Amino acid sequence: MSDTVLSNFTPGIRQERSYHRTFKVGIIGTGWIAESHAESYKNQPDVEVVGLADLIPGKAEAFRERYGLKNARCYLSHTELLANEQLDAVSVCTYNMTHAECTIDALRAGVNVLLEKPMCVTIEEAADIMRAERESGKLLSVGFQPRMDPNMQMIKKIVQSGVLGEIYYIQTGGGRRRGIPNSTFIEKKTAGIGALGDIGCYSLDMVLNAVGYPKPLTVTGYTSNFFGTNPMYQYPDAGHTAQQNAERFDVDDFAAAFVRLEGGIILDFRISWAMHLDTPGDSLILGKKGALRIPSTECWNGTVGGPMKLYTDVAGAQTVTEIPILPSTGSGLFDKKIRSFLDAIDQGGPAPVPTSQIFYNQAIIDAICKSAAAGKEIEVSLPSLD
Ligand SMILES: NC(=O)c1ccc[n+]([C@@H]2O[C@H](COP(=O)([O-])OP(=O)(O)OC[C@H]3O[C@@H](n4cnc5c(N)ncnc54)[C@H](O)[C@@H]3O)[C@@H](O)[C@H]2O)c1
Repeated sequence: MSDTVLSNFTPGIRQERSYHRTFKVGIIGTGWIAESHAESYKNQPDVEVVGLADLIPGKAEAFRERYGLKNARCYLSHTELLANEQLDAVSVCTYNMTHAECTIDALRAGVNVLLEKPMCVTIEEAADIMRAERESGKLLSVGFQPRMDPNMQMIKKIVQSGVLGEIYYIQTGGGRRRGIPNSTFIEKKTAGIGALGDIGCYSLDMVLNAVGYPKPLTVTGYTSNFFGTNPMYQYPDAGHTAQQNAERFDVDDFAAAFVRLEGGIILDFRISWAMHLDTPGDSLILGKKGALRIPSTECWNGTVGGPMKLYTDVAGAQTVTEIPILPSTGSGLFDKKIRSFLDAIDQGGPAPVPTSQIFYNQAIIDAICKSAAAGKEIEVSLPSLD
């Protein structure tokens, strides 16, 4: 048996892969999450980070020094970066309000895009992004790294195995008792949306991906900001006191919704940056033949909050099966997110996390905001993608 075949079975013998090109990569927005992108790009043997852009003078240069990206040229805007560099790919790591603009401009410049979550702020922006994606013929993947975790993948495998039967009810969400971020996350002018976009999108993706992303039909949404606007629950950051952060806070710190999905599925959702409670509860997927309990999790780092439980009837007896927590193997979630994006470019697709799915994630977030503002249930109106 050849070494190549053996290495598929024997732990410890690593299968070497060959890399036949060098990806010239840019990073737009050199804030906090860009650090994980830079680290992961550095771990890829076939990537050269050639450009960095940030609106804040000196920020991209400081980032270049910190991460030793000596071949990267620095720019004060994404448009300058796109005009001056021949890029194969960019990571869009800006705050939510500039996701759409940076992504559309990059696609129109013929560059493949790894876009950080949430996809954007409104459903209209999501449709604009998807039109640009189609017209460009380039690859666009949305940065949901939990998709790379084996436990998150197991949720989908269980649902798709049919063991739960037809799904009719889902409860999901997550939250923190105290965990309001600061900086650019708490103002509409940069973040657009609060806990909903920051962590809510992950909980939605965890369950909607498992059940095949059915189209949302109606939404009754609620949002509030009792904690973020109260200096007692605020934190100081580099540029602001707790009082100032409370004053500038104008996004949601809690959201809840009742969503009707195509196929007769009800989705009961809640998410929180702060509340007088440790968790709003486990995620539940109820089907006609069985049910799955996913212990409370914030999802973003791909962890489940304990072993999942599968409830089924076997020969008339009510059984509970514990699903052991699976260890993550190989490189970290971020490396896998970056690698799967690069491999998809190489192979001509499909995108690891396609916009065709995340469009519905964004539609729910958008409809929660609109329903909350209207104070009543609304029908989800999806813009045409033509
Ligand atoms: N995947 C994850 O685990 C994860 C974790 C944290 C944040 N995020 C997402 O990453 C995004 C950024 O978060 P962050 O914490 O890094 O924010 P940040 O505020 O630290 O950084 C954003 C940077 O983008 C820059 N910027 C904005 N518009 C720009 C433009 N047009 N051209 C160039 N630079 C521009 C800003 O000046 C800022 O420095 C958010 O959408 C957030 O939801 C993802």
